[in-house]
Amino acid sequence: MKTATAPIRLRDYRAPAFTIDTVLLDFKLDPVATHLTATLSIRPNSAEAVLGRLELVGDETVLKSVSLDGALLAPGRYHATPSLLVIEDVPDTVFTLTIETIIDPSANTKLMGLYRTSGNYCTQCEAEGFRRITYFLDRPDVLAVYTTRIEARKSEAPILLANGNPGESGDIPGTDRHFAVWHDPFPKPSYLFAMVAGDLGVITDSFTTMSGREVELRIYCEHGKEGRCTYAMDALKRSMRWDETAFGREYDLDIFIIVAVSDFNMGAMENKGLNVFNDKYVLADPDTATDADYANVEGVIAHEYFHNWTGNRITCRDWFQLCLKEGLTVFRDQEFSSDMRSRPVKRIADVRTLQARQFPEDGGPLAHPVRPEIYHEISNFYTPTVYEKGAEVVRMLKTILGPDGFRAGMDLYFDRHDGDAATIEDFLAAFADATGADLEQFALWYAQAGTPQIVAKGQYDANARVYKLTLAQSVPSTPGQLVKKPMHTPIRFGLIGPNGADIAFDEVSGARVEGDVLHLTEASQTVVFGGVGARPVPSLLRGFSAPVRLAIDISAEDLLFQARTDSDPFNRWQAVQTLAMRNLVTGSGDVAAGRSPTVEPALVAALEGILSDETLEPAFRAQTLQMPSEADVAREIGHDVDPDAIAAARKRLRLAVCEGLGNTLFVRYGLLSGGGQFTPDARSAGRRALRNTLLDLMVAGGSRAAITAALDHFETADNMTDRLGALSTLAHAALPERQRALDAFHDRYRDDPLVLDKWLTLEASVPADETLDRIKLLLHHPSFAIGNPNRVRALVGSFAGANQTQFNRPDGAGYDFLADFVLDLDRRNPQTAARLLVSFRSWRALEAGRRARAENALKRIAARDGLSPDTLDIVTRTLA
Ligand code: PHE
Ligand code: ZN
Repeated sequence: MKTATAPIRLRDYRAPAFTIDTVLLDFKLDPVATHLTATLSIRPNSAEAVLGRLELVGDETVLKSVSLDGALLAPGRYHATPSLLVIEDVPDTVFTLTIETIIDPSANTKLMGLYRTSGNYCTQCEAEGFRRITYFLDRPDVLAVYTTRIEARKSEAPILLANGNPGESGDIPGTDRHFAVWHDPFPKPSYLFAMVAGDLGVITDSFTTMSGREVELRIYCEHGKEGRCTYAMDALKRSMRWDETAFGREYDLDIFIIVAVSDFNMGAMENKGLNVFNDKYVLADPDTATDADYANVEGVIAHEYFHNWTGNRITCRDWFQLCLKEGLTVFRDQEFSSDMRSRPVKRIADVRTLQARQFPEDGGPLAHPVRPEIYHEISNFYTPTVYEKGAEVVRMLKTILGPDGFRAGMDLYFDRHDGDAATIEDFLAAFADATGADLEQFALWYAQAGTPQIVAKGQYDANARVYKLTLAQSVPSTPGQLVKKPMHTPIRFGLIGPNGADIAFDEVSGARVEGDVLHLTEASQTVVFGGVGARPVPSLLRGFSAPVRLAIDISAEDLLFQARTDSDPFNRWQAVQTLAMRNLVTGSGDVAAGRSPTVEPALVAALEGILSDETLEPAFRAQTLQMPSEADVAREIGHDVDPDAIAAARKRLRLAVCEGLGNTLFVRYGLLSGGGQFTPDARSAGRRALRNTLLDLMVAGGSRAAITAALDHFETADNMTDRLGALSTLAHAALPERQRALDAFHDRYRDDPLVLDKWLTLEASVPADETLDRIKLLLHHPSFAIGNPNRVRALVGSFAGANQTQFNRPDGAGYDFLADFVLDLDRRNPQTAARLLVSFRSWRALEAGRRARAENALKRIAARDGLSPDTLDIVTRTLA
């Protein structure tokens, strides 16, 4: 086993010994030998400087020369390794350090620092990529003003971009080269630096800010794809307007640029004034993008734009504070999308993502607090916990303080900390000071890992007209945190009366109740409601007001009643999910024990009720008809999981639902056909979602008529949502008809890598024994490229993350395949390799046979010499 480097701890934070006020970067671009001269104005941080010794970090950095105040330093005056540059005896006042480095962007397969993508140059610096460009104080609390000069061959890179506003540019006489200078007046940490150069297409627009300033907008992409950028541009302008109205935040530079690139480790990056995007979150048109793709483009464009205030103008003091920018910005983009689309539908989608991605993390070996206190490799902490649970914590803050208190706190935060590198304590203090609220207990949400469990029990006393609700909370142990304290948890609720409306109560004791929010603060509380005229059905956690697991003692009849009547759409959806989940958990047990599962009639009745309720929007009905996934059921069961039994129970349930709903499915499907000209708006998308969901349920019944309808749906589709919807139904049902359709889809889009990712994903998702062999073949298919993270995630990521039965094959071949692939990829792109490896996070919850095989595969990875810090960190924690 390898020994890891020493961990970084929050409690060891020290302010930097030096600060850097200005940075001048002069790039002379070349595909294999780019020359960079960095001129830094450095000042000792009076209280902290350690007697004139300056340490700058690098990472595989190649030094050419270093000068101090204009004089070249002799080799004896400094010490340089690829990861460190130490200069002894620097002045105790301001001085200028000039560092020359040489970079080979073509050899950079990690996609961190300066690299090449589709023949263009591009940088990625968060979290620690800037040090791969030059030696630096590469930490977020060193804020400098950057000026960037880029020089390149005109034919190779006609477009030269960097952060800030454009300055001087022109040809270099007597050469085939040209240059451009960019200046960013806003001090920023190095992780927000960006430079892009190459031959790119562009669309342009403009935006007038609330104070009347004109901002130029540009989106760059590969030539020929400009037409697919218009939706992103529209989303950008709506985001800019929304941040003004919802948060009073105005854009601050003269220009805002987005560049879409095809090789990118993550979704997108909020570099000041120059956002760089994974092109899958920019490009969209009806023939190549699904409705989900459109929604993702809108959400990611908004997310990166919103970072301009939450992340850039106010940044993080250190990487432990990552949720300060990420959780808050996810909350902001979720709110934006809710305002643009349907709030309940967006909420259900977000909660499903949280439960599918964050809950398993919080319940497994990789659990960590929203604000971690220790890390080995920061790249591994861009997690669902930091992002999605981080957003839930901000949402709870808003629920606790109310909209006005929340806005007052945000206003104070922006006011107080503009230009700062801030902490979670700063953030919470702004809300406490603006509203007078005591947030001390609430702050535990940032410090305690693990999904809290809330057990609820209600009791009605008709004679006394009293309803008693007992709520008990507990937070499970997680790595490094065995004992937890009770947290301040806002429970939005209602007591549903016999006519379906919420019943009034006249007095409450046992908890602070404000409007429809109950504040749970103790380990256990009994809340007594007086003057309750009839036995209520409790509707708890409306809108999913806290990221917890709720266990409630409620009958199937009451759930059916709630599904029909709850005034909170989220809980109508939740009631149906709970009914379905109970069926699936029992059914899985039945299958495993060789009994044949039965289906609760209340569930079919609830689905029927939702399906035929014309007052409900189609998108909501679609969400309700989509039952918990196999992974959802596995998570609910939690131990000795047998994925084959779950898949069989789910198949059986969908068949029973199809039979139970009978002809209604076909009739409703028919009524939704023919939507006219495609538009990507939420209403039209909702109709398509319902129609595709109905088709999927019809096919679950297995009739020839349904399969014919699916093939017809696929062939006659005039947009990607319908085409992929039908294809995905054929693939997920592992129907023999699928292969011809998949091949036809591949041939139609053979020149479109983003669409081929959808094809790779479906190939990897087929729940059939032959899938693993098919994937091994596809690794050598011309449409696959191990160097491109999107291809890797589409084929291997989908297999390990979404194909429950095949990744978890009883013979362990799925685990072995993933281990081999991760080991191979680790040498080229450690970040993406480590992310794939996270697919093992729930291995301990598997039944004994699979558990042993998964453990073997993990141990084989751990035993390999020369693992990257990224992969070593994940494998070590996963096995711990
Ligand atoms: N900060 C990016 C975001 O908006 C994510 C990211 C992290 C991108 C690290 C690249 C590298 O969420
Ligand atoms: Zn972000």
